[in-house]
Amino acid sequence: MTALAVKGFQAGYDPDLPIVKGVSFAVKKGEAVTVLGPNGAGKSTLIKAIAGQVACLGGQVTLGGDDITGVPSYALAKRGLGFVPQTENIFAQLTIRENLQIASELVEKRRRAGQIDKMFDMFPDLKLRPNDLAGTLSGGQRQMLAAARALLTDPPVLMLDEPSAGLSPKLVGQVFETLARVHAAGVTLILVEQNVRAALGLASRALVLVDGELAHDGPTDALQDSTTLGRLFLGNRTREVAR
Ligand SMILES: Nc1ncnc2c1ncn2[C@@H]1O[C@H](COP(=O)(O)OP(=O)(O)OP(=O)(O)O)[C@@H](O)[C@H]1O
Ligand SMILES: [Mg+2]
Repeated sequence: MTALAVKGFQAGYDPDLPIVKGVSFAVKKGEAVTVLGPNGAGKSTLIKAIAGQVACLGGQVTLGGDDITGVPSYALAKRGLGFVPQTENIFAQLTIRENLQIASELVEKRRRAGQIDKMFDMFPDLKLRPNDLAGTLSGGQRQMLAAARALLTDPPVLMLDEPSAGLSPKLVGQVFETLARVHAAGVTLILVEQNVRAALGLASRALVLVDGELAHDGPTDALQDSTTLGRLFLGNRTREVAR
């Protein structure tokens, strides 16, 4: 069953200048897919546009079969698509608990406290210090709080933009262990990453985006060899998506 699909998708900041230039792919329920590609390829633009934060300029996005093209971000969280942007994904001046409380406002009132407890159980680092300011968390813990905020509504699909950015190798390991647990709990993951090794360890399938177009879509096994990935990043296409 398809969890999320995009078809002929175009997106960008200027209607005359699409950054994402006609991308099509489908993510199956329960899959973990990574989106790789060189800097400036349009990876963030692609997932922000799917998440309703950048204008869709053409094509279609479906979530569990429903058309969600152009639906704004706050409405998508309710409809089952969680999104963790790369930056500004928590409120540093509020406590950990307050960060979760704000996110829980998307959930029915009677379920809020239970959902917050569930997140504390899923992310034990947060449970240790619920009343500390989020700004005092380590980079990795901040990413966990950001993920907890996005998971509060129990979305079947979670998209994350570079959760490992700026983290030490040890913290990258912790964040990916956490994401593996989230995936094991049944959440479909779409993960934009620069840290190719970490991403290929978690995802079973990779999409490679080069200059706003899909250069590759296939199992991660085929990309463990860095020469193949290097060639793709330089603009070579694999046969399946060649035009
Ligand atoms: N807010 C914006 N307004 C206008 N252009 C933008 C904006 N954000 C990004 N761009 C442009 O869109 C293109 C793709 O950027 P994007 O951030 O999507 O790439 P990326 O693949 O995520 O790169 P990185 O790996 O560096 O994060 C770039 O040319 C960039 O300059
Ligand atoms: Mg980016």
